[in-house]
Amino acid sequence: MRRKAILITGANGEIGHGLITALHEQTGEHLIGLDIEEMDSATKGILWENIVGNILDRTILDRINSQYELTTIYHLAALLSTRAEFSPGTAHEVNVDGTLNLLSIAVEQSRSQGRPIKFFFPSSIAVYGLADLEEKNRAGTVAESQFLFPQTMYGCNKLYCELLGSYYARHYQRLTAEAGTARIDFRAIRFPGLISAVTAPSGGTSDYAPEMLHAAAQGIDYDCFVRDDTTIPFMTMPDAIRAIHLLMDAPREALSQLVYNIRAFNPSAAQFRERVLADFPKAEIGFSVNGKRQAMVDSWPADVDDSAARHDWGWQPEHDFEAAFADYLIPDIRTRYRIH
Ligand code: SER
Repeated sequence: MRRKAILITGANGEIGHGLITALHEQTGEHLIGLDIEEMDSATKGILWENIVGNILDRTILDRINSQYELTTIYHLAALLSTRAEFSPGTAHEVNVDGTLNLLSIAVEQSRSQGRPIKFFFPSSIAVYGLADLEEKNRAGTVAESQFLFPQTMYGCNKLYCELLGSYYARHYQRLTAEAGTARIDFRAIRFPGLISAVTAPSGGTSDYAPEMLHAAAQGIDYDCFVRDDTTIPFMTMPDAIRAIHLLMDAPREALSQLVYNIRAFNPSAAQFRERVLADFPKAEIGFSVNGKRQAMVDSWPADVDDSAARHDWGWQPEHDFEAAFADYLIPDIRTRYRIH
């Protein structure tokens, strides 16, 4: 008998940590974590099985497929946007081929179990591509269907995987006798920049905000790599995890689309710096603009329209800008770095 379980790829990543802890508290199901790196011991302890391996390794995926009856797949593994620009070929393999592999497992699972498999995919504001700062300023708040011309490898990968997910959910093998026999309940969120007090970021381009905060908390000088007026939406990690739950728990009939924007607050880099300084007044935070990374952030919207998420599954952030700092970031980062 195959054991019933939930699979989380990218389990050791920033979202993975928070999600696994929350799933452990909220479901009785066995959690299987797959990551290219060894999990940290706290998270490892709550997983039923911790698999160290690559989502491109068919042998590992075949074993998971044959050993477990997966009810839900949270496919979080990805190369983030800065890293992807240095290795676009690898990014395509991990971000696209990897997603295709996981969707194929979902198909096999659905067929063998005879029921829909829930599939969560974290997309990103990187799917948007505003031509330049002028267009960004003119566009203001963007809706899900606008400006889908990503300028980054990561953005291209995410946008294409949203489309793949929609294809698997709605039209997979439509010309064959098997049409309709695999039911993939694909659900995606386009996340803004995420800020965790617990994990330090790596490989992202929205990371200037969390990097500023983590550096300040550790008493390390920081040079922000984007201009002080740079504005994109952000959200705390706990809100991102809550959003995943809200979306995944929503009845399918309530969902009018497969991919949703969500937002919480969108300070400029200068406003973020000021708020960090309010709690860490001795922090040395300067600006040393990297033109190439700046251009990437300038192609991302200053804000997104999340009215569909609010309407369909009751999305509402718990943390606005001030609450993010006062209720989460500052207290948790003080604990994280043992600051009294
Ligand atoms: N925030 C991510 C990054 O900067 C995008 O999803 O890579």
